[in-house]
Amino acid sequence: MADEQRDSRGEAKQSFYAKQQLINAARVTFQHLAAVLKNATLYPESHPSALSSAEKLLIKIQELLVDRKEVAFYLIGGELFFETHSVLVDQSLSLLMEQFVSREIGAIMFRPGLTEMEIIKFGSLMSKEPAFFASEGGIAASLSRENISHIDLHRAQLVDNKTGSAIKKGKKASSSYTDAVGTVKEMIRSVHLDKTVNMRKMNTTVQTLVDDILENRDAFTGLTSIKMYDEYTFAHSVNTSILAISLGTFLSLEKRQIAVLGIAGLLHDIGKVSLPLEIINKPGKLTEEEWGIIQQHPVEGALVLSEVPGVTKMAMVAAFEHHQHGELQGYPLVEDGRLPHLFSQIVSLADAYEAITANRIYYSSRTTPYQAIRILLKKRGITFDPILVKAFVNMIGIFPVGTVLKLDTGEVGLVMHQTRDLMRPHILLLTKFDGSEKETGAEVSLLETVNGQYVRSIAGTIDPEKARINLKLYLE
Ligand SMILES: [Fe+2]
Ligand SMILES: [Fe+2]
Repeated sequence: MADEQRDSRGEAKQSFYAKQQLINAARVTFQHLAAVLKNATLYPESHPSALSSAEKLLIKIQELLVDRKEVAFYLIGGELFFETHSVLVDQSLSLLMEQFVSREIGAIMFRPGLTEMEIIKFGSLMSKEPAFFASEGGIAASLSRENISHIDLHRAQLVDNKTGSAIKKGKKASSSYTDAVGTVKEMIRSVHLDKTVNMRKMNTTVQTLVDDILENRDAFTGLTSIKMYDEYTFAHSVNTSILAISLGTFLSLEKRQIAVLGIAGLLHDIGKVSLPLEIINKPGKLTEEEWGIIQQHPVEGALVLSEVPGVTKMAMVAAFEHHQHGELQGYPLVEDGRLPHLFSQIVSLADAYEAITANRIYYSSRTTPYQAIRILLKKRGITFDPILVKAFVNMIGIFPVGTVLKLDTGEVGLVMHQTRDLMRPHILLLTKFDGSEKETGAEVSLLETVNGQYVRSIAGTIDPEKARINLKLYLE
């Protein structure tokens, strides 16, 4: 391995761990905040428990303030973010999240100069009923009345730390998707015609994809579930890329690395370009000979890419390795017992999920995203690294965007995005089933409770095609 490559890998690994540490520190800080708010409901402000929990929180905040101007938490769609990093929270913090949500708080910021007294007063304020703030002219007014000047609360809005601008929500994910399909198509055509491949265009496309996915991951993973019948090969590449990028963002890889992963995803099957189309698109079972030809595509891919100037070496490695599953498994066989590169493993997982859920016209029945997740879970530790599978499921959800759910109330709901609880996504209630129009009914969270009881729970899943639900109307 070249020194340069080893260094960049070491660097990536270091920054990966640094980021994980930061996310951990953020989670611990949030847990201390939860303790402060809980104590505020149990003890008076001068009680030793109230004081000690405030002191602990202050220490954690000060540690984080060493290299930033403010410590900012955001609550969006039932998820907790520290700056722009998603922080996984467990059940014990759900009460605190609810406390914020019911007061319509989307962001909380702590600034230098913060005192224990402010923390304690903030705790008491938060223990008041939501209606209290309405009568007092809003939470901000209550904070200033109590002289709490180093804690700010905002309504939900995620701010991009680098640019300082608010992250746009609800941007059309489908336009970057179509652009990506166009770029892949052009690239495949160039390879076919032995023309120069425009790597610059491919890099820009992936950069845009990465930026857009960082903003709204659910919208993109949702898009991958509506397959394009006629252009499956292109859609497969783009979907694999989107899923690989999404997993990269979920694992908090560095943006540069995520882009490399995106390119590797887009190009992983480029070796199929040189194989006969009748075999690639053959419905039904392949003969042994045909299967032998299909198995050449990783080697073909690596060869094709070795001749494309400017393409990242990682794309070549992933093309070669994406069907190898550890030692002496998969193809092509290598006997040195090396595990595929982490990025090849990510592409391989994304590729498998995408292929399982693919809705190819000649498939008589379709595997739903929910069933695909179950298949991946079964292959964990055998075909796929168990930790990667776990991360993938945490990212995409047990009931991915686009899954149609049967609820215990008898209602039917379409998963729109994930929340912190994988069993309780945010859904759109559906009532009509003739597939002709888009319904704009109520969006509800399955986290919603009344008197401590969940209002709705999942009773099962429904095949959208059988229920005549046109997913395209909702996910584009
Ligand atoms: Fe492949
Ligand atoms: Fe593939």
